[in-house]
Order: sequence, then C-alpha cells, then structure tokens
Amino acid sequence: MTRTVESAQVLPYPRELQAVGTESRPFEHLLDLADLPPGAMRRITRGELDVLVAHTARGIAATDDRCPHMSAPLSIGVLEDCVVGCPLHEGRFDLASGRPVRMPTTGGLDPEGRFHPVWTPSGSAPKVDPPGKKAEARQLTRVRLLRYYPVRIRDGSIEVALPQLPTG
Ligand code: FES
Repeated sequence: MTRTVESAQVLPYPRELQAVGTESRPFEHLLDLADLPPGAMRRITRGELDVLVAHTARGIAATDDRCPHMSAPLSIGVLEDCVVGCPLHEGRFDLASGRPVRMPTTGGLDPEGRFHPVWTPSGSAPKVDPPGKKAEARQLTRVRLLRYYPVRIRDGSIEVALPQLPTG
C-alpha cells in the first residue's frame, strides 16, 4: 500500500535516546506535513540547532542534522526505508534504533567502543589510512548513537520539542 502524507505517523525511537533538555518542552511547528512527502528529508535550523526531519517508511523522525561520526549534514544524504546514508564517509544509520548499520569508510569506534578498520567501497581504489596523528584520530573517532527530538503531528503540521536554545 502506498502511504500518503495524510496517513503519516511518528517513528518510535528508543526512549533512552531522547535528546537532553527536551523533557517538558513545548512542541513547536517545524514544517508542514505536505512539505515532507514519504522518503524526503529536510534540514530545519533553529538558532545553532540544525534538525533533520525525515519521513521514513515507518514514520517521521527528528534528530540532529549532524552525522554521529564527523557531523556532516545527513539531510543531503540518502534515505532508504529507515536508514539514512551519510554523504561524507558512507556511514549508514538506522533512524529506528539510533545505531550505525554500516561504519564509515574511515573506520573508528562504534558506540560500544569496538574498533572497526578502514574499508573501501566496492569499485573504488583501496583506501589507505594516512600516517601519524590523522590515522590515530580516525581510529579513535567514536560513532555516537543518534539523539531524538520528540515529534507529533497536528492538523497537517509537524511539531517538535526542542531544547531551550541560548538567546542573544
Ligand atoms: S561524517 Fe558521516 S560517515 Fe563520516
């Protein structure tokens, strides 16, 4: 069955991954549901906060528009089902679980601190880790779990609870 914008729902996420500072915060309009068809992603900026709003196959999710590896904008990546692919190092992240489903090409540490080596996408020349501090930094870069902003849908509006933002 093809889902329509009218039938959109909110994607459940692990409660422990709710973004700090969003408890008891009011919901605010982020964008019209009509502007986020199934399969679409948008970046919405509030102050210093860049929010990724994604209309996945299982509902709408809001998280940071910063890759949990090295902060690239996920909103210009690729969304397949519930998995978003980062445009920078080909890491893939499950918006339903908050976890990486494919580590970046640069390797590094997964959320539990397990090491994953550099890898090469098929059809590309073999990747070689740069020497020295750069390699060390890449090996010690930990991919974090996603953090979620609570979402609700009201009268064709996607509303999100955001933390209090600094003023001035
Ligand atoms: S910044 Fe996204 S995979 Fe590296």
